[in-house]
Amino acid sequence: MTLRSPVKTRTKLPDVGTTIFTVIGQLSSQHNAINLSQGAPNFACDTRLVQGVTRAMEEGHNQYAPMTGLRALKTRVAEKIADLYGTQYDVDSEVLITASASEGLYSAISGLVHPGDEVIYFEPSFDSYAPIVRLQGATPVAIKLTVPDFTVNWDEVRAAITPRTRMIIINTPHNPSGKVFDANDLQQLAALTRNTDIVVLSDEVYEHVVFDGQPHHGMATHPQLAERSVIISSLGKTYHVTGWRVGYCVAPAEIMDEICKVHQFLMFSADTPMQYAFAEHMNDPQTWLSLSAFYQRKRDLLQTLLAESPFKLLPSQGSFFLLADYSHFSDESDSEIVKRLIVDHGVATIPLSAFYTDGTDNKLIRLSFAKDEATLRAGAAALCQVKSR
Ligand SMILES: Cc1ncc(COP(=O)(O)O)c(C=O)c1O
Repeated sequence: MTLRSPVKTRTKLPDVGTTIFTVIGQLSSQHNAINLSQGAPNFACDTRLVQGVTRAMEEGHNQYAPMTGLRALKTRVAEKIADLYGTQYDVDSEVLITASASEGLYSAISGLVHPGDEVIYFEPSFDSYAPIVRLQGATPVAIKLTVPDFTVNWDEVRAAITPRTRMIIINTPHNPSGKVFDANDLQQLAALTRNTDIVVLSDEVYEHVVFDGQPHHGMATHPQLAERSVIISSLGKTYHVTGWRVGYCVAPAEIMDEICKVHQFLMFSADTPMQYAFAEHMNDPQTWLSLSAFYQRKRDLLQTLLAESPFKLLPSQGSFFLLADYSHFSDESDSEIVKRLIVDHGVATIPLSAFYTDGTDNKLIRLSFAKDEATLRAGAAALCQVKSR
């Protein structure tokens, strides 16, 4: 039974309905499928973090944190960025602790993008960018990454820039393809934005998950880009606690002022006990320096286990994900094969078309290896049973 309202609503997001993520989630639970779909880890976080949160609660840190975040945590974040990437952010005016990377994305876009502006972003893309842009009365301008290597065609970006372009959204390492930016990408982006008022919004939630000894080419590694960038990261992703909803955002002070104006009315502040725990935990640089090797072992295990499957795996340079190609053995759409994998084989994945606003079907599915070894083994065994159609 639901209540029936006499009120007529007018949607601001007519294209947002029940997403394929919800459909897959429901089908997966009906079939009790092995979950290789979501980017949420299914293994425990460091017990010291849980103890840290518990201690903070017991010590009475249960009221609002300062609006921009606990100073100790902001200091750790600024020190980490300076050590790793060479840009020094001012702890008081250029670092914001957010209630998740998602909130950081919302506050940044909402604070900086005006009605009538255009925002360039790349597809396939994380699902929140375009709807947040639309909610500002602005226009999202999607540029497709090349397939199958998921690089940016910078000539296309140049052609898409207009006097109304206010922001370019970057995501490296990239969800869903696992592609990472290189030094040339940064140079091209810097050249295209020089002498403009374009802000770069850089979603770097997988900054510590870059494989094969490669560096993370984030915006803080490039002084000229750092001056016009908002960098977003997620402590939920870095520390296997996606449910804790804590992230951060760094940007030059003038840009940060506008982001904070939204953050203070949206959230006011992020959860207090979690911030205490993270501030202590981040005293140990190994907590982020060890992450690439940790996830590389998972990527390698899944790749090895799938060597006997009919899928062709695309290389993953970073993130929690890799893409699998099935075009050589089936004509099914990516949504059809994903449903078949759940119903007939008991394993859940995500069709790449879910990451395109126009539903482009490249006959690729996304697998998440942010899972414990038993899940990776069971999921891979199920995928090895798949027969061609
Ligand atoms: C590219 C990207 N950005 C942002 C987020 C959201 O991060 P958070 O859980 O901290 O909101 C995700 C989560 O999957 C993601 O993959």
